[in-house]
Amino acid sequence: MSRILVTGVSGLLGLNFAMKVHGKAHQVIGVANTTPLTGVDFKCLQAELTEPGAVEKLLDQEQPDLILHCAAIANVDACEANPTLAAEVNGVLPGRIAESARRHDTQMVHISTDAVFDGVRGHYSEDDDPNPLSVYARTKWEGENAVISANPQALIARVNFYGWSTSGQRSLAEFFFNNLSAGKLVFGFSDVFFCPLEVTILAETLLELAGTASSGIYHVVSSECLSKYEFGRRLADEFGLDADLIQPASVRDGGLVAARSPNLQLRTDKLSAALGRQVPGQAAGLKRLHDAYLAGLPQRLQGLSVTNS
Ligand SMILES: NC(=O)c1ccc[n+]([C@@H]2O[C@H](COP(=O)([O-])OP(=O)(O)OC[C@H]3O[C@@H](n4cnc5c(N)ncnc54)[C@H](OP(=O)(O)O)[C@@H]3O)[C@@H](O)[C@H]2O)c1
Repeated sequence: MSRILVTGVSGLLGLNFAMKVHGKAHQVIGVANTTPLTGVDFKCLQAELTEPGAVEKLLDQEQPDLILHCAAIANVDACEANPTLAAEVNGVLPGRIAESARRHDTQMVHISTDAVFDGVRGHYSEDDDPNPLSVYARTKWEGENAVISANPQALIARVNFYGWSTSGQRSLAEFFFNNLSAGKLVFGFSDVFFCPLEVTILAETLLELAGTASSGIYHVVSSECLSKYEFGRRLADEFGLDADLIQPASVRDGGLVAARSPNLQLRTDKLSAALGRQVPGQAAGLKRLHDAYLAGLPQRLQGLSVTNS
């Protein structure tokens, strides 16, 4: 059995990864900070990871085989409001974890973002140069570079994903589901393109990729890219909701604080080659999201977070 330390376990990716993977083959030790979890069947610790010595202490105590570093200031507008905190958590902390993982001979998977690209051209490969537009994107790129220089064996996964969360409103899928279920009109950006993976498919893919002992940067996204508007319509169709409640709109009229990259279509051929198979398209992910909904996962997750109970 391998021991996997998951930072950011109270977040969208960390929690779904932990719940998907913890079991007979893998033992998850989760680390939350301000949002403790109750009722989970994996071990859950609390740590402010930027405190001096916090990372070393965790690795000394828990001796994991793998660390999946999901913790971040992942809210783009929160980064714009507090760039110093974003620089520390997204830019500096990953390097410290990478350094500590190297010293402990622990494999590391660092979670980064598709948003490191400016989204002007699209169809980016791992060899293309990033050009971040926002504080979030710039600090995440700084984090990638810190990881690479501290620990060249680390794996860096640039991701984009959706799923069910403890707050019920963390992901774009929840935004569309909540509003359409309530019969509300919403806007969907028809000029912003991305390739999101359903979060439990992402969890499985990250674990599989880690098993190949790959290192360096990988785009771990869906092989099928689409606009946010089209994503909303596909979700509506999957759930039997009214897709015509979604109005196409331009991101220029969205009133967003931080700049967004319009075309984040990422190539996945490097990932496919490492896995020896194709990466799923959107239909498989939306079906997985729907199956989880029918199995009651949204309610279960919303009952796990102390702040929500
Ligand atoms: N969501 C997306 O679509 C998306 C897209 C591209 C990339 N990503 C990347 O994917 C990763 C996971 O994102 P997410 O959406 O799951 O994040 P999230 O839901 O916002 O959760 C963030 C997590 O980070 C933890 N955290 C933040 N600061 C911390 C600190 N100083 N010490 C310890 N823990 C800290 C939080 O803990 P508490 O809440 O307990 O304080 C929380 O568990 C991030 O690296 C993000 O940049 C996300």
